[in-house]
Parts: sequence; C-alpha cells; structure tokens
Amino acid sequence: MKIFIDSADVDEIQQGYAWGVVDGVTTNPSLLKKAVEKRVKTGERLDLKEYITRILEVAKGTPVSLEVTEFTADKMIEQAKRLYAVFNPVASNVYVKIPVNPAFKNSDTTHFDGIRAIRELTGAGIPVNTTLIFTPEQALLAAKAGAKFLSPFAGRIDDDLRGRSGMKFDKSDYYPASGMTVDGRAVDDNGVVSGVDLVEQCVEIVNIYGFEAEVLAASLRNPRQVREAALVGAHIATLPFGVIKDMLKHHKTYEGMELFTADIVPEYEEIR
Ligand code: E4P
Repeated sequence: MKIFIDSADVDEIQQGYAWGVVDGVTTNPSLLKKAVEKRVKTGERLDLKEYITRILEVAKGTPVSLEVTEFTADKMIEQAKRLYAVFNPVASNVYVKIPVNPAFKNSDTTHFDGIRAIRELTGAGIPVNTTLIFTPEQALLAAKAGAKFLSPFAGRIDDDLRGRSGMKFDKSDYYPASGMTVDGRAVDDNGVVSGVDLVEQCVEIVNIYGFEAEVLAASLRNPRQVREAALVGAHIATLPFGVIKDMLKHHKTYEGMELFTADIVPEYEEIR
C-alpha cells in the first residue's frame, strides 16, 4: 500500500519524505488554510504560488493533489486546467482533486457536475483524484469517468455513524471495521457499516471490473484504521503526519529499547 501524507505543511511534508516511506501528498482547502495560517502567524509574508511550488518540488516524482474550489463543471474544469498549467510544469506531479458531487444540501443548481468535470479533465490528460466519496456507487461512477484516484472518506463516515447513533467520540477514536450495534441493531449508512467497510467495497468494485483507478483511503484517523485499510486492499492511504508517527509507537518497543540499552557491553561500541 502506498502512503501519502495528508498535509499542506511543507515542513511536515519534507520530514515525511526524509523518512523515505511517503509516496505522495494530498491537500485540501482546509489543510492549505491551516498551513498558511501557521506561517502567517510567525510573521512570514507568504507567496502562495511559491509555497505550493515548494511542496511540488519536495514531492518530485510522486503525485500531489491540489483541490479545486469552484462548484460548477465549467468553472471547476477551468480552474483545474489553470492549476495544472501553472503548477504541473514545476515537477510534473499534479493531480487535480474534484468533488464527486460538488453540491450543497439545499441547492439543486450545481448537482452532479463532478462526474462531467472528471470525464472532461481525464480526456484532456489531466489526472484526477475524486474526493468526498461516501458511497461505493459514487466511486463506481468516478472510476467510469476515468478518475485515477478514488478517495473514500473513512473517518468522516465513522463520525457520521457515531454521530447519528448518539455516541460520544473524539476525532482519533477507533471505530471497528465490522461496525457497531446500538440497542441490538446494526448501525449503517445504506449498507456501509464503517469507513473501512466503505474502502473495502470501493476496492472490490475496482477489482471486479478491472478499473484503472486506485482506491485512496482518506480521512484516516488512527493506526488501527490504517492497518484495516491495508488489510482490505486499499491501494493508497493518505495520512496526517501525526498518524504516520503513531504507527511506529508501542510501549513494548520502548521497553525493549530500554532493556537493550541497559545491556550494552562497552566493548561492542568500541568495535571499529
Ligand atoms: C484527503 O484527501 C482528505 O481531504 C482528508 O483525508 C480529509 O480528512 P479529515 O476527514 O480528517 O479532514
């Protein structure tokens, strides 16, 4: 499974790449806002174009997803082409991120434009990462439209399932891949019992029909969820740097380090 870093913080991205296990970057408007605010707070005068260029250079040779902020097909296509024209020459690694359905709850004016935008951009040779996928059927349509990456939002499905069932939880709390029951009844969202289940169903559809698209498990919040996404065959997982670090932690690893360190014979260290 490829591991992407889910961040727009160039320092974090640099650290992740220095470990040699990061295969790509995903950004979104919220991550970019957070990264910009962090730098502006330190008094830095930020040139956003130059800043994004640095991210692309750090990630050279691996995909970087940049999300559109428009909502209609024509405007998304125009913005995606502009972002691609400005940034892809830097390191040839730009993927544009298009919402599968850039609609708002109480509006019907912009419904269903995502698929058309994906199809047109794909046809123009621009690789697309389809974002905000919450059902396997959204993934199916995005794959048919030619998207390279399908991003099911595992953590946000778990939030929704817990929220609707009145459970109290923290963002990073584990939610079982097999789902939960409340008062003896299984909690589900139209047949999806957890974020990892959503990822698994998307992977199955891609595999059954041999789509070229890769399933990019997004919105992952803790190491156990990453493990489960890997076990159901997610092609990629995008992770906040904190989750990548948490994947390396275990109290027995620390204890082992202490025990081995206490047993070091000086002669061993003196070997030259
Ligand atoms: C990545 O592509 C997504 O934008 C991101 O993983 C969302 O994560 P969140 O639900 O933790 O905000």
